[in-house]
Amino acid sequence: MQQTVVITGASAGIGRALAFEFARRGHHLGLTARRLAVLETLRTELQAAYPGCKIEITPLDVDQDDSVAPALHALFDALGGVDTVVVNAGINDFTRVGRGDFAKEKQVLQTNLIGAIATVNAAAEHFLARGKGRIVGISSLASLKGMPKQAAYCASKAAFSMYLESARAELRRKNIQVTTVLPGFVVTDIMPDIAKYPFAASASDVASEIVTATEKGKAIAIVPAYPWKWLRPLFSLIPDALWRKLA
Ligand SMILES: NC(=O)c1ccc[n+]([C@@H]2O[C@H](COP(=O)([O-])OP(=O)(O)OC[C@H]3O[C@@H](n4cnc5c(N)ncnc54)[C@H](OP(=O)(O)O)[C@@H]3O)[C@@H](O)[C@H]2O)c1
Repeated sequence: MQQTVVITGASAGIGRALAFEFARRGHHLGLTARRLAVLETLRTELQAAYPGCKIEITPLDVDQDDSVAPALHALFDALGGVDTVVVNAGINDFTRVGRGDFAKEKQVLQTNLIGAIATVNAAAEHFLARGKGRIVGISSLASLKGMPKQAAYCASKAAFSMYLESARAELRRKNIQVTTVLPGFVVTDIMPDIAKYPFAASASDVASEIVTATEKGKAIAIVPAYPWKWLRPLFSLIPDALWRKLA
């Protein structure tokens, strides 16, 4: 069934790939990110490829958490109501504990956790009024295992996963579905040389798996499913020395 989907962080990487995948499957889109010019180009590309796709764009910096709800509600209204919100905007940074990186750590938590929670709240408010909806939160496999130089990132994603789990339990009876997505390494600009990391997947492959998992109403989606579904139980057994090598 045709739906309307809002994606934060749609200007690049996984968000951009999700925009193409949802459009390919016949859905309408609301796209947000900080870089409006990039979103305008993306809209032109999407409309050329999928002329029937209705697309609204809006600039949104999730770090400005007071502006998240008003901007999203205006977008939801412009689209005539929304069925799914993908909470995707996020950053990564290599940070070292006790080496003066607190400001960078705080920034990672602001964007990935506080900005994401502000987005979930705006989406849930809209869905509670509509009596239905779906929230898709892009967390990370990094939520499951602490890694060197990634303390803030892992903490932000672990906290976001827990927030989504609570939201899922709270909103289920209100006909609002919450999916937590745990991507492995995905080739985007989020980190330099990410393609060299184990089992790095393309953003388009991952986007296809995310959309399928959310259509099936999964509570948790590990993407790409293979090999990470098999490896997940082994995470706690992986020696720290191996993570240090990767970092
Ligand atoms: N790539 C991976 O290996 C991987 C693995 C696990 C999880 N993830 C998660 O997947 C999500 C997308 O990451 P990605 O790999 O696609 O990264 P990316 O290519 O760097 O894209 C990040 C997107 O987030 C937006 N963004 C960043 N800060 C923002 C802010 N303050 N306000 C609004 N938008 C903001 C960026 O747009 P603007 O710059 O235009 O604002 C961009 O569209 C993130 O939550 C990330 O943690 C990625």
